[in-house]
Amino acid sequence: MTTTTLDRSDLDTLRSRERELTAAHDGFRSAGLSLDLTRGKPSPAQLALSDDLDAENRPFTAADGTDVRNYGGLDGLPEARRLGAAWLGVRPDEVIAGGNSSLTLMYLYLLNAWLHGPAGPDGAWQKSGSARFLCPVPGYDRHFAILEDLGIEMVNVPMRDDGPDMDQVEAQVRSDASIRGIWCVPKYSNPGGQVYSEATVDRLARLAAVAGPHFRILCDNAYAVHDLDDEPPPLANVMDACRRHRTEDSLVLFASTSKVTRAGAGISFMGGSPATLDWFRRRMQVVTIGPDKVNQLRHVRFLRDMDHVRAHMRKHAAILRPKFELVFRRLSEALDGTGTGSWTTPRGGYFLSFDARPDLAGEIVRLAARAGVKLTPAGATFPYGRDPEDSNIRLAPTFPELTDLDQAMRVFVVCVELASVRQTLEDR
Ligand SMILES: Cc1ncc(COP(=O)(O)O)c(C=O)c1O
Repeated sequence: MTTTTLDRSDLDTLRSRERELTAAHDGFRSAGLSLDLTRGKPSPAQLALSDDLDAENRPFTAADGTDVRNYGGLDGLPEARRLGAAWLGVRPDEVIAGGNSSLTLMYLYLLNAWLHGPAGPDGAWQKSGSARFLCPVPGYDRHFAILEDLGIEMVNVPMRDDGPDMDQVEAQVRSDASIRGIWCVPKYSNPGGQVYSEATVDRLARLAAVAGPHFRILCDNAYAVHDLDDEPPPLANVMDACRRHRTEDSLVLFASTSKVTRAGAGISFMGGSPATLDWFRRRMQVVTIGPDKVNQLRHVRFLRDMDHVRAHMRKHAAILRPKFELVFRRLSEALDGTGTGSWTTPRGGYFLSFDARPDLAGEIVRLAARAGVKLTPAGATFPYGRDPEDSNIRLAPTFPELTDLDQAMRVFVVCVELASVRQTLEDR
C-alpha cells in the first residue's frame, strides 16, 4: 500500500469525483440490473451456428463400416482422430477422440499419473514424496481445481505477453526435482488471451530434457481455432518442437469442440506420443468401453476438415468481434491514462484479463455485485483462489447480448474508478 500526498485542490477534485461515482453506482443499484460476466460460454446465436449437426446423424455407419450406435472403439472413430490430428498438429496415430469434455480427459490423465505414474509405476507421483506443478498465472481455475483435488502443490509462474516466464520455469525445473509438470494454454490463454511465441514453445519442448522422464507438459489448446482476426497470430507446432528435442513423451495435448459446436455436447481430443497413448489407453480400459461415436460421426460430417472448421469459426468471430471491441472501447474510454488498471486485448479466445491496482480486485467485484453485475470471483485466476496482489479480474464477454454487455461494462468501469478513488483518499 502506498501513501499519496495530495494538495488541497487535488483532494477537492478527488472528493467530488468520488461523489459523482458513488451517485452513478447508486443509480445502477436502483436500476435493478441482473447481468453476468462470469463464465466463458458461447451465446445462443453462436450455438445456433451448429444446429445442422442434428441433420448429420444418419446413416449410423462410419467410413470403415463401424455401426456407431454400438459399443467399442476406445480410441474413437478413425475419421474423428484424423480431424483431431489436424486440429492438434500431430499424426492420426497420436490422437484419441473422446467424449464431451476435454477437461475430463485432463482430469483422468492427471489422476492416473498421480496413481500409477505417467511413465510406469516407479514414477507414480503419489509415491514421490512431494509433487509440484508449475501454473502460469493468471490462469484457468478448473486446471487449478484438478491439482488441488489431487493434492499436487501448485507453484505460480507469471504470464508474459509471449507465454509463461520461461526463465522462471527453467529455474524451477532445474532447482526443484519435485516439479512434475506445467499447465499451458498456448493459444489465447485463459484469461489473458496471450499466444505463446515460437521461442517459448521451443523452450517448453526442452524442459523434459532437464526434468526427466516423469515430467509432463499439459498443453490445453482449448482455443486452437478461436480466432477473432482474419489473419490470426501463428502458434508454433508444439509436438514438432518436442520431436526436435526428443521429448515427445513429455507432451500431452488437449482440445475440444465445446466452443465450436455445442458446449458440453461436443467431442474432445487428446494428443500424445504413441507411448503416451498406449499408457492412457490401458488406463481408460478400466474406465469406459468407448466414447459416444454417434456424436463423433455427426461432428466429422458437420465440421469435415480444418478448412471447414476455420470457415465455421469465422461465423463465430463475426458474433464475437463486436463484443470484444465493445469491451476494449469501454475500458479505453473510461480508464486510459487514469492509472486505475491495465488489460489485455486478445485476438481470439473467450476472455480478457484486467489488472486493477493492488488490493482492489475483491472490492471491485463486490461493488459490481451490488450494482447487479456478476464478475468471476477475485482470486479465481490463481491457484487456491489466492491472488497475492488481489488485482486480477477475468472478464468474459461472449455470452451476453451487446446491449447487456455494454451496460455491464459501464458498471464495471465505474466500480474500478470508484474503488481506485476511494483507495487514494484512504491512503493519503
Ligand atoms: C482453457 C480451457 N480448457 C478447457 C475448457 C473446457 O473444455 P471442455 O468443454 O472440453 O471440457 C475451458 C472452458 O472454458 C477452457 O477455458
